[in-house]
Amino acid sequence: RSDRMNVALDGPAGAGKSTVARQVAKRLGYVYVDTGAMYRAVTLAAIRSGIRPDEADKLRELVASLEIALMPGPEGQVVLLNGEDVTEQIRTRDVTLSVSAVAANEAVRAKLVDLQRKMASERGIVMDGRDIGTHVLPDAELKVFLTASVQIRAFRRFQELKEEDRVPIEQLEREIAERDRSDEQREISPLICAKDAVVLDSSDMTIEQVVEAILDMSRTKMAEAK
Ligand code: CDP
Ligand code: CDP
Repeated sequence: RSDRMNVALDGPAGAGKSTVARQVAKRLGYVYVDTGAMYRAVTLAAIRSGIRPDEADKLRELVASLEIALMPGPEGQVVLLNGEDVTEQIRTRDVTLSVSAVAANEAVRAKLVDLQRKMASERGIVMDGRDIGTHVLPDAELKVFLTASVQIRAFRRFQELKEEDRVPIEQLEREIAERDRSDEQREISPLICAKDAVVLDSSDMTIEQVVEAILDMSRTKMAEAK
């Protein structure tokens, strides 16, 4: 289908990928796919089964037995783990602290990348993650690498926390920096900017400005394709 394209949105934690991707998808009439949610669902399953991220064989076995699906829901995307709605549970701090280590596992990545490629095969997808432009959808018509300073990203996360969940912002900053480091240094599909991606630093931009910038780029790409 030449009238639709795929948009790949990568970048470090808290850059605004999911917020922006959701809105861009809505404005284009495309489907939003949050690949981080899929890695989080596997991580939740591992925690529930008492499997540590470094137990590679157990993780391989576990992931083979899992069914992970993303479905549109009234409030956005719903994440299903073996049919169970785990949309809320995958956002806990426990999952956030383990997800990067689980995502480094080869079998976990192979299974999820396969699913992600199937989801994007009809085009008309906005997919966000870490390796979308470099590995999952190297042929995506538009690739954006969204970033922001680690201080700003930590501040954005801090503001999202409920009063009772608040932790010092310095701690969030350390945790984000550590997750970036581990995502950037893993062997398989590390977080790096694709050669043909447009880098967008959102440190001083509003969400609306980022969304508009990406929509502009997508219009240009569409016009070029015609
Ligand atoms: O939303 P947040 O930035 O906290 O993270 P996420 O997008 O939910 O992704 C959680 C973790 O999953 C990342 O830190 C990566 O370790 C992993 N991930 C990945 O390895 N590859 C992707 N395509 C997406 C996420
Ligand atoms: O998906 P990723 O981890 O990259 O970021 P996110 O979950 O979309 O979180 C970004 C947070 O920063 C959200 O609370 C947004 O409201 C806020 N924000 C943003 O995304 N973009 C801006 N330009 C400014 C703020």
